[in-house]
Amino acid sequence: MNPKDMAFPFVCDRLALQQRRQRLAQALPCPVLLWAGESQPRNFPANRYPFRASSHFLYFAGLPLEKAVLRLEQGRLQLFIDPPSPAEILWQGETPPPAEIAAWIGADSVHPLADLQSYRAGAATLPLPSPLISWQQAQILGREVPIAAKLTGSDLELAAAIAQLRLTHDPAALRELRRAGSVTVAAHQGGMAATHTSQTETEVRAAMESVLTAANMTSAYASIVTVQGEVLHQSQSFHPLKAGDLLLADVGAETLSGWGADVTRTWPVSGKFSAPQRAIYQLVLSAQDRCIAALAPGVEYRQIHFLAAQVLAEGLVDLGILRGDPQELVDRDAHALFFPHGIGHLLGLDVHDLEDLGDLASYAPGRNRSDRFGLCFLRLDRPLQTGMVVTIEPGFYQVPQILADPVRRRTYQDCVNWQRLADFADVRGIRIEDDVLITETGCEVLTQSLPKQPEEIEALVSRSPLGGYPR
Ligand code: GLY
Ligand code: MN
Ligand code: MN
Repeated sequence: MNPKDMAFPFVCDRLALQQRRQRLAQALPCPVLLWAGESQPRNFPANRYPFRASSHFLYFAGLPLEKAVLRLEQGRLQLFIDPPSPAEILWQGETPPPAEIAAWIGADSVHPLADLQSYRAGAATLPLPSPLISWQQAQILGREVPIAAKLTGSDLELAAAIAQLRLTHDPAALRELRRAGSVTVAAHQGGMAATHTSQTETEVRAAMESVLTAANMTSAYASIVTVQGEVLHQSQSFHPLKAGDLLLADVGAETLSGWGADVTRTWPVSGKFSAPQRAIYQLVLSAQDRCIAALAPGVEYRQIHFLAAQVLAEGLVDLGILRGDPQELVDRDAHALFFPHGIGHLLGLDVHDLEDLGDLASYAPGRNRSDRFGLCFLRLDRPLQTGMVVTIEPGFYQVPQILADPVRRRTYQDCVNWQRLADFADVRGIRIEDDVLITETGCEVLTQSLPKQPEEIEALVSRSPLGGYPR
């Protein structure tokens, strides 16, 4: 078959890629080598995990090219890639020839990988979480590339320059983020609609993930579809669904060029919230609404986190679960008994965008991660900028490891009404999460079209305007 006849499901915005290279050249004079990586074997060499290219590579190449390396210098792009071997063609099929791939991404030249060593002089690079690639980098560069936390010299300058570029999104990136967002919205609607005919979590998960697959997308992270909402990243989905359970679904799409979404909804399996579930749901929703309303350029994301903590503390006092002055409770981190994570994070090519660089990108220079109970999982501590995309994801959880911990119980014995808390035993975990673009005048919720009002959720789950599908 002529490779030219092959359908190739990628659109490359060459102009955007070129502008990204030029912006990098303005920030960093030295040449840069970026490895795409390669798929890892599972249990034997021919059975492999799906390939996911390095996000820094994707940012400049636009295509997930396996076993490829980019060299960037002064805005010029050299692509290093080999044509597939006869065995690869036999088992995996033809791929377009390297010259054609190079033309798609707007490369200035294309070379076999064996030539890479002669272009290594003075090159900065970034590590990948792969021993194989670390070994290849050491062979090619003649030096070890340390993990992100230990980068120095031009590698560290490269990390800082790329972080600066990727903190805010250009129009091409936003187009992809919107596509990922809208398919994710459809997946959640599919999950809600599938609940009343599903017996287990995994059936709902399958309904959601089938929407991603049918749109030629993958999951941006391991889906969380669970009645154990208190397990923050519960990726096992084998539990049965019972009337009275809340189902927490944190599922996000990723486009073929790597841009993601990260959305959570929590709904009642029966199609009807119980009174305690509804009260806590309303509270989490009002924390999310208040946070979203406060987003704007220049606002400190840490203040958004504290705003969520304050709204939750006030609501928990009103419900009789916490006792005391809400501001003082937040100062003492008492809210973290029920909201132990941060309000969100950056979103882009990675679901926790740029977290491969530790806190280099997400903490402003001179700021460090706190070890406070109520702040240690704050993943972003910067003033917001136009063009950033962040998640806003407050939650309420009853985590046994926290609530039964003797030290925490002693510390907070005066603030929690345990007897009253028992009235909310059917609320194991609620999270509401949306993806939000910071704009010049405020913000735009990219996943706005997914309903979140309790009545809307009940109608979608029960497929009846009255709610309450019988189980
Ligand atoms: N889906 C993972 C998170 O919300 O951070
Ligand atoms: Mn998230
Ligand atoms: Mn999430």
